[in-house]
Order: sequence, then C-alpha cells, then structure tokens
Amino acid sequence: MTAADRQSSPAAERNRQPILDVLRRVLPPAGRALDIASGSGQHVSWFARHLPGWTWQPSEYAADTLPSIAAWSVLDEADLAESPQAAVGTGPLANIAPPLQLDVCAAAWPVAGAFDAITCINMLHASPPATLPGLMQGAGRHLARGGVLATYGPYILDDEPLAPGNVEFDRWLRSERDPSWGIRRLADVAAHARDAGLRLRERVAMPANNLILVFEREGS
Ligand SMILES: C[S@@+](CC[C@H](N)C(=O)[O-])C[C@H]1O[C@@H](n2cnc3c(N)ncnc32)[C@H](O)[C@@H]1O
Repeated sequence: MTAADRQSSPAAERNRQPILDVLRRVLPPAGRALDIASGSGQHVSWFARHLPGWTWQPSEYAADTLPSIAAWSVLDEADLAESPQAAVGTGPLANIAPPLQLDVCAAAWPVAGAFDAITCINMLHASPPATLPGLMQGAGRHLARGGVLATYGPYILDDEPLAPGNVEFDRWLRSERDPSWGIRRLADVAAHARDAGLRLRERVAMPANNLILVFEREGS
C-alpha cells in the first residue's frame, strides 16, 4: 500500500468538513466508531484526524477499495498542511484500524464488541434496497445502548417536493448506474430503524439538499 493507492472522491472532499461539524456536535468526546461503506477512505481519515478521542474502524463492501482506505490512514506532509489544527504527525494515524471487508446485508458482520457510533455516508441510494434493512439490523446488533448511527445522503420526504437536483440525481442513479439504486424515502429508513431498535433523534439539513439522520439505539 502506498500513497498511489489513494482514490479521491470530489464529493467526499466537499462534504467531509460539514459532516465532521455535525459529528462533533452529536457525538460524545470519545468512543469507538465503525464507518460503513468507507469508499475511498477520505472521510474516515478526516474524522480520525479531527476527532482524536475516537477510534475508527473503516469498512467496505468493495474489496478493491481497501488499499485506498489504508492509504488514506497514513498521513503525509500535504495532509498535515490541510489539517494544521489537528494534533497529528506524518505516518499512520493511531486511531484508525485496518479496513475490513463488510457487506451490510450479511447475517453477521466481521466485527467484535459494541460501537458507540456507526457512520454511513452516501450508501443507501448507491446500493440495492436490501442495504437499508441490512444497515439498520446490523446497527441494532452492533451499537451500544445510547450509541448513534449517523447516515448522510439525499432522502425523499413525504411532505416536501424533491429538490430538482435530487430528481435528476435519482433518475441518473437508476438509468446510468443501476435500476435498483435510487434515493430512499426517509419514512422507510426510519421504519427500518425502528424495527431494529433505533430511534430517529435528529434530522440535520446539509448542503446540496442532503440530510444527516441521527439515530439512537434504544433498549438494553
Ligand atoms: C457512493 S459510494 C460512497 C462511498 C463513501 N462513503 C463516500 O461517501 O465517499 C457508495 C458505497 O457503498 C458501498 N456499498 C454498496 N453496497 C454495499 C453493501 N452491501 N455493504 C456495504 N457497503 C456497500 C459501495 O461499495 C460504495 O463504496
């Protein structure tokens, strides 16, 4: 694994700071987090640099992205230059574990112990519908009581028209990427969460007509 393994997503570059700002507010100062569908690994690298009280377990369905996630977990001088306020040096970030291959639809996830937070950014609309119950059931199994699941992305609200940009995005996802993909209804997301013992605690408006949904694990 070298810096050349790093993949780069312009969307992740744009949204990593607004998402971090929300995580800072809704999460306690320290804990253990699992990132689902880590993609390139840019988000988890950013969150680990700026939330030093948290340890991060990145994960991805697509095995060929694991080297990129690992590469983003090792900082170079350029990373330090863009994170001058973070108390980190060059080299491996101490608070990121090696990435795991994880399919949210699997009956068992390859992780041990309870997590205080699970993050899932831009997966639900960019994957088949089965990832919704898969994510929620897995979060129900693996979050500690009071732990938080934060999902980021566009959602269909029953009481508001979909923004024109999201209408076009939904059409593009289904026609150009995969007919089973598409923006999910927030009501369906919340219903699957409820079935898994998760309560929708907060809904945060984000740039470009996205939302962060903050769920809390209830029960014992
Ligand atoms: C649009 S990308 C988002 C990646 C990253 N979170 C980001 O925002 O840059 C959607 C991701 O969902 C992942 N994914 C698709 N199906 C999945 C599944 N069954 N379990 C876990 N992740 C899955 C894909 O591999 C892909 O990395």
